Order: sequence, then C-alpha cells, then structure tokens
Amino acid sequence: IANMVKICCIGAGYVGGPTMAVIALKCPSIEVVVVDISASRIAAWNGDQLPIYEPGLDDVVKQCRGKNLFFSTNVEVHVAEADIIFVSVNTPTKTRGLGAGKAADLTYWESAARMIADVSRSDKIVVEKSTVPVKTAEAIEKILTHNSKGVNYQILSNPEFLAEGTAIQDLFTPDRVLIGGRETPEGRRAVQTLKDVYAHWVPEDRILTTNLWSAELSKLAANAFLAQRISSVNAISALCEATGANVSEVAFAVGKDSRIGPKFLNASVGFGGSCFQKDILNLVYICECNGLPEVANYWRQVIKINDYQKSRFVNRVVSSMFNTVSGKKIAVLGFAFKKDTGDTRETPAIDVCKGLLGDKASISIYDPQVTEEQIRRDLAMNKFDWDHPAHLQPTSPAAVKQVSVTWDAYAAAKGAHGVCILTEWDEFRELDYQMIYDNMQKPAFVFDGRNVVDAEKLRAIGFIVYSIGKPLDSWLKDMPAIA
Ligand code: NAD
Ligand code: UDX
Repeated sequence: IANMVKICCIGAGYVGGPTMAVIALKCPSIEVVVVDISASRIAAWNGDQLPIYEPGLDDVVKQCRGKNLFFSTNVEVHVAEADIIFVSVNTPTKTRGLGAGKAADLTYWESAARMIADVSRSDKIVVEKSTVPVKTAEAIEKILTHNSKGVNYQILSNPEFLAEGTAIQDLFTPDRVLIGGRETPEGRRAVQTLKDVYAHWVPEDRILTTNLWSAELSKLAANAFLAQRISSVNAISALCEATGANVSEVAFAVGKDSRIGPKFLNASVGFGGSCFQKDILNLVYICECNGLPEVANYWRQVIKINDYQKSRFVNRVVSSMFNTVSGKKIAVLGFAFKKDTGDTRETPAIDVCKGLLGDKASISIYDPQVTEEQIRRDLAMNKFDWDHPAHLQPTSPAAVKQVSVTWDAYAAAKGAHGVCILTEWDEFRELDYQMIYDNMQKPAFVFDGRNVVDAEKLRAIGFIVYSIGKPLDSWLKDMPAIA
C-alpha cells in the first residue's frame, strides 16, 4: 500500500469528476482524490445527487467512492500527498483586459500551479487536463520551478476528448489518449508513468505520445475541426433552403465518401457547449499573436457561420409569423446545448431566446434537465460582445418577465403560436403533436432546430413546419427570412 500511486485532480467539474471516476474504476490499485475550492460541488459529489447529469456516471461513482475514489475540499493536503496531479480547472474566455473575448483566462490555472509549488515536498508529475493555449506548459513550468522548494516537476499535456452526454462511454473506449511531454529522460519517464495508468484499460496502440506543444495544439485543432464540420453543413443548410435541396440527403451523400465520413454532419440551429467557441476563439488569438492573421480569419469564420445560423433561425421564426412575434407566446423545447446533459454553457438556446425576446415575444421554456434558476441566470448574463456581435445584450428586466419555465412540454406549448425545438432530446420525437396542435393558436408553427420531428406527419396534422436545411413549406417560401 505504501507504494500505491496517488493521484490528485484539481477541479471537480464536467471533466475532472467523470475522468477521475473512470480512472478509479479501472485502476483499483490507484488512490484518486478529486479536490475543488467549491464546497457545494464537493458536497454534491459526496451525496446522492451528483452535481452533473451524465448517463452512466452515478454507477461508476457508486462503485468506487469511499474505496479508491474520494472528493474533498482539502486541496492542499491531497496535492501534497499525490504523485500525479491532474489540473482540470476551468479555462474560460477572458472577458476583460488584453485578449478579452478571445484569449483563454488562465487565472484558475495559475493559482492552482502556485498552490502546487507552495505545498509540494516531493517530486510531482503535473498533468494539464484542462484545455490550454499551446505553450502553456512552458509558463506552468516556470511558475513551478521558480517557486520550487527543491522539488522536481515534470509537466505533461494530456488533453481530454470526452463529449458531454457520452462522457462515460468516451472514457471507457477512447478513440485515443494523447500524452505530451518533454523529450528528456525524465520527461520520457513521466510520460511512461501516465501511460501505465491508462494502459489499465486503453489498448497500447491508442495511447499516443508526442511533444508537449503537439499535444496542447492537437486539442485546439481537434475541436476546431469538429466545429468546422458543423459550420460547413450549416452553411450548406442555408443554401438547401434556398434551392430545394435537402441537407440530410446532401450530408448523407457527402459523408459516404470514406475520406469525409458520416459523423458530425447534422445540421442544427448551431453548435453550443463550453468548448467549441472558447477553443476556436483561443486558437484565433494564438494565431494573431503569432503573426498569422490569415489563419486566424480562416478559423474565425467557423464561429461567424455559427452566429449566422442562430440569427437565421430567429429571423425565420419572426418572418414566418407575419414579421412580428410581439406579445405572441412561443414555446421553446430544449435549453441544454445537446441532449443527455443539463449543461447550458454557450447553448444556442440562449441566443435564440434573446433574439425572440428582443422582438418582444413571450416565451415558455421546457427542458427535462435544466432548472428554471439556471435558465434565468443564462438569459440575464452579460456576454462579451468583443469581436463577436451576435452575442446580444443581456435581457432587459422587462423582457425577463416575458419568460416562463415549465416542467412539461405540453404546458409550454399550450396557447402558443409557435414551438421551437432547440435540443434534440429523444422525448421530443415522441410527443403527442396532435394534442399540442389542438391547444395552440392557429396557424400553428413548429420550428425544428434539430431536425427531430417527422415534418410530413406534423404537416398532416395542420402545422406549418420549418426544418433546418429542408425544402420549405409554401408558407415559408412566401415569407422569406432576411438573414
Ligand atoms: P468546470 O467549470 O465544470 O470545472 C472546473 C472546476 O475547477 C470548478 O468546479 C472550479 O470550482 C474548480 N476550480 C477552479 N479553480 C480551482 C482551484 N484553484 N483549485 C481547485 N479547484 C478549482 O469545467 P470543465 O467543463 O470540467 O472543464 C475543465 C477544463 O477541461 C477546461 O479547460 C475545458 O476546456 C476542458 N474540457 C472540457 C470538456 C467538457 O466537455 N466540458 C471536454 C474536454 C476538455
Ligand atoms: C466537444 C467535443 O466533441 C469533445 O471531443 C471535446 O472534448 C469537448 O467538446 P461537447 O461540446 O461536449 O464535446 O459535445 P459535442 O457532441 O461535440 O457537441 C457540441 C455541439 O455541436 C452541440 O451543441 C451539438 O448539438 C452540436 N452538434 C454536434 C451539431 O450541431 N451537429 C453535429 O453533427 C454534432
């Protein structure tokens, strides 16, 4: 037991929690402690209602908690005892100062690094789990070595590729695990130590090792490529609507090319989530700082198309309803940024709701996993609009009064003029749309931002249906949206 490897993870969020739970499950010989400065988060991890909703997570946590998986606010003690320290703190976009609206805010990272330097009395492997700008390891190394109390540090980059909603599955069978380290004997040893942890369940050929900068940059690049696919198909969706092509058919045909592949080609109201926009903005900033404005502009366009897609959706709603939604009730089904998560960070629903409220609609929101409190917080939030005009101003207090939140899709749609589907929750496919139609104002509209409903069935009921990138109803053709 004395030789038992000890892992400490700083940051018990969407990444730290699930990742460490899976390491604990797969490596019974390793003690894993997840620490956080947020006492309420740690309490939730130790309680019955975990702080995040993620299919399969409860099960994993229950199997190891109290055995070799612990959650604690005793940050310093556990950091001091650990051999390997994962840092999985948040790295949001800077909202003020140099690089505001683009650069990553490394405040939390730096304070974690200073704390590590402060309390460490034995050699440590410090692992970047957070997504960070390329070259961050160099900065971290400086902070640690300049404050070292005779302790040796090895910095590794081990970015996380899990997606929310499928985190456990992604962690159990990752496409790859990426470990970057220094190309020195000590660096190679550290890489091997971390490799041995993952080798408990990940096949050797899926564990890739690179230099530090490649590992850091690969994470930003992977997210940029993924988001770029969505913006590409969303850009095509606009052209489909203008021409009568069907984006699902086009995406299927395009994706059949094995060089392109079928995944991540679903047109939508826009991508959301805490990562894509933040990481691309960060990439743009790094390119600018390295004197590469052409490269920066190339990637910036991925976000611009995403903003365009969200405002295009709002315009479509307003224009089809005789160019005004003022005083009209509109039901919003789904607020989370994707299904199977309660996370609302950067969800397209925020911008769509703000757009509708800006046109004085009265909106009624239903999401199976998002609380009213969260929705109100999101709509009241003041977002940076630096270099990023689509982020509308915070909702005015008067407009916030026009928002209601329900715990039932039928209640949300009752008496409404239109229904907007903004998250692809499975239950939205199964709703009784006849009943919804009967209780709505006429003409009744459905705006399907995720292409989840069977539009023909709904048209047979009497709805006017807008599906992203699909041939338009004659009604919508007669009322062209100006994007
Ligand atoms: P999160 O906000 O859910 O969790 C971060 C946690 O770190 C918070 O609970 C916060 O209290 C804690 N924290 C901050 N500073 C601390 C400190 N000094 N000491 C102790 N705890 C501290 O964030 P997240 O979604 O888990 O993301 C973490 C990192 O992982 C980010 O860099 C993100 O880009 C990256 N990432 C996220 C995802 C994802 O799907 N969410 C996927 C891959 C990578
Ligand atoms: C993403 C990356 O997939 C993951 O590898 C990385 O570690 C973190 O960022 P996440 O944001 O959790 O994961 O979810 P993801 O499944 O990528 O979806 C992001 C957004 O894109 C969601 O709003 C989703 O609805 C949207 N999306 C996804 C589309 O609009 N169309 C698609 O085809 C796929």
